[in-house]
Amino acid sequence: MKTHTLLMPLDMHLHLRDAVMLENVAPLTAYSFSGAIVMPNLVPPVATLDDVVAYKERIMAAVPNDYFEPYMTLFYKNYDKAFLESVAEEITAIKLYPAGITTNSEGGVSSFDIEEMRTTLQAMSDLEIPLCVHGETDGFVMDREAEFMSIYELLATSFPKLKIIMEHITTKAAVDMLDKFDNLYATITIHHLILTLDDVVGGMMQPHLFCKPIAKRPEDLDALLSVALQAHPKVMFGSDSAPHPQHAKESCGCAAGVFTAPIALQLLCEVFDQFGKLDNLQDFVSDNAQRIYGICPEFKEVTLEERPFVVPANYGGVVPMFAGETLSWAIESID
Ligand code: NCD
Ligand code: ZN
Repeated sequence: MKTHTLLMPLDMHLHLRDAVMLENVAPLTAYSFSGAIVMPNLVPPVATLDDVVAYKERIMAAVPNDYFEPYMTLFYKNYDKAFLESVAEEITAIKLYPAGITTNSEGGVSSFDIEEMRTTLQAMSDLEIPLCVHGETDGFVMDREAEFMSIYELLATSFPKLKIIMEHITTKAAVDMLDKFDNLYATITIHHLILTLDDVVGGMMQPHLFCKPIAKRPEDLDALLSVALQAHPKVMFGSDSAPHPQHAKESCGCAAGVFTAPIALQLLCEVFDQFGKLDNLQDFVSDNAQRIYGICPEFKEVTLEERPFVVPANYGGVVPMFAGETLSWAIESID
């Protein structure tokens, strides 16, 4: 039986929510990952030192062991330097959302005026706090990410020492940016390494595959696969696992978000193995992120094996991607 061992897997973009949902989903990630960058788009967003500290405590209370590190983020606003100095120790990054572009992002940035943002972004650069960005405009849905490239360019050239992470990239346009600007990095989800728009709406509409940014064209998928499979040193795995209750997905007005946390490592093995690139998975799912973010996660060794694994129909009322379908890799042991 073929097996593959991963050390300290990291999920560099994760939604854990709060309260009952947090208690439901946090253990699923803590089971197989050493740590995760936790998104701040709660209602209201995580935007003060107290918010960060209290949310981290709630996360730790929801996970059954100590071998999981939630890397906390703050919701981007135009903060001053004194405030950023006061929170720097408690956060790993700051997450910027354009206003209203996705779930719980209403309080995000409504105009990318570099002068208005300069104090905050320069302070982040000085304090070495990475900026994670949801890079979509409010244009035509298939063009939103590509249209955002000029904003990435503006940010990258205005703040050349600021680490900027293009979150959950879905296009060849974003892939092409990686080699153009030293300070641009990217996370890639597992669903965007499998799906195109055809899978979402080409046949019967699939609400559990609907997310922001929407899956794109075959040539975009190929570009994403090319950098992920070679574990390009500037790309990291970030699931963007975004749980919504079943009724919010299977409804008139489907919430955006694909729930992959409990099947992410199995799917990553499946995809990397399919292309004969399993040896590069360690870099993609941990080592690149450790280097880019300068983090040293707790030891965890996850062994997967190639055998059928039927994805559960739901996890506490949240339907995962590929519910009821059979994957070809399963988690065998975790030490
Ligand atoms: C995310 C969510 O539900 O919080 N949804 C999504 O479609 N990915 C927000 C986000 O990351 O855009
Ligand atoms: Zn997200």
